[in-house]
Amino acid sequence: MEAHSSSQRGDEVKEVRWGILGPGSIARTFAEAVKRVPGCSLSAVGSRSFERAADFASKHDVERPHGSYLELVNDPDVDAVYVATPHAFHCEHAILALRAGKAVLCEKPLALNARQAEAMARASREEGLFLMEAMWTRFLPAVKWVGERVRAGDWGEVKFVYADFGFRSSFDPASRLYDLRLGGGALLDVGVYPVSFATMLLGEPESVSSAAELGLSGVDESSSYLLAYANGAQALLSSSIIVATPQEARIVCERGWLRLKAPFFRSTSVEVHSGGEVEMHDFAIPGNGFEFQIEEAAARIRAGAVESSMMPHQESVAVLRTLDRIREPWGLKYPGDEASE
Ligand SMILES: NC(=O)c1ccc[n+]([C@@H]2O[C@H](COP(=O)([O-])OP(=O)(O)OC[C@H]3O[C@@H](n4cnc5c(N)ncnc54)[C@H](OP(=O)(O)O)[C@@H]3O)[C@@H](O)[C@H]2O)c1
Repeated sequence: MEAHSSSQRGDEVKEVRWGILGPGSIARTFAEAVKRVPGCSLSAVGSRSFERAADFASKHDVERPHGSYLELVNDPDVDAVYVATPHAFHCEHAILALRAGKAVLCEKPLALNARQAEAMARASREEGLFLMEAMWTRFLPAVKWVGERVRAGDWGEVKFVYADFGFRSSFDPASRLYDLRLGGGALLDVGVYPVSFATMLLGEPESVSSAAELGLSGVDESSSYLLAYANGAQALLSSSIIVATPQEARIVCERGWLRLKAPFFRSTSVEVHSGGEVEMHDFAIPGNGFEFQIEEAAARIRAGAVESSMMPHQESVAVLRTLDRIREPWGLKYPGDEASE
């Protein structure tokens, strides 16, 4: 889907000038990566506090710190905004940037729920401006190769996908991981990786069953889900913020199976077991891994596209619909679920 706006016409904007909205932990990874991507620069950063913006700007060599998100999105020297606030604010902040005429790369998950993700996709289409979920894993060479080969049917149809993403953190009700108001819990923070991985390979599931261990602050600290697809395929996935898991992914097809070595979301090595043989495929990740998604976003922005075929709007919406269905039987609701967009 192509659309054009004055701020992203390919012939006018060669360099994509990025602004970071929310200078927290992941924003640092983005700041390091964006400078290594040809045709991109980091020109501004916006925080709720000018001091935090200025501190980030001085550490990461960013020209213009802004003391509010509104100032950042109205900066005429910014073409694209990287939204790096907690999940509960992705919708509000991405729409703020789109309505101000900026392209958006938004951290995962795209929103708190499917309804918010739909609203973001609508705003992107209405403004004719690019929007993509920063599901960086999809753009890495190993994951991209696996996705292409499996979808092409190299080993026949997929029968099973197994994947997990768990890590150990200490309980802290003030941290975004444990705060229900910020969309805390394992499912949205790390469960989105295996769900997005299964969606890339199999599409949206027909049925969903799940179990969760809810913690003291009400968020899911560990959760598992079984997704079943119309063609009979099944995905068995789990996530945790209280225990480290193997972080591996395996894909079982009719004529062989693949293992993405841990961590599967940053894998550099894929084992293919087929016909009694084992083949190893190695892939390099220069930099911190964020460069690939930034490259894709910048290329699509220059082309005047509103989305990327590698992480299209409706696939992010489908992932969130699945996450909504997974948590529904747990009675897990975020305060932001009730709010209008
Ligand atoms: N792709 C990845 O590998 C990866 C890894 C980690 C996290 N993430 C994603 O990135 C997003 C941010 O995660 P993070 O770990 O960077 O979080 P973080 O360190 O807590 O930073 C979030 C930033 O958002 C801003 N913010 C705005 N409203 C806030 C509020 N009410 N409470 C807390 N912060 C607020 C804060 O900046 P100011 O107050 O200064 O404006 C804060 O620095 C999440 O959606 C997460 O899923 C992605």
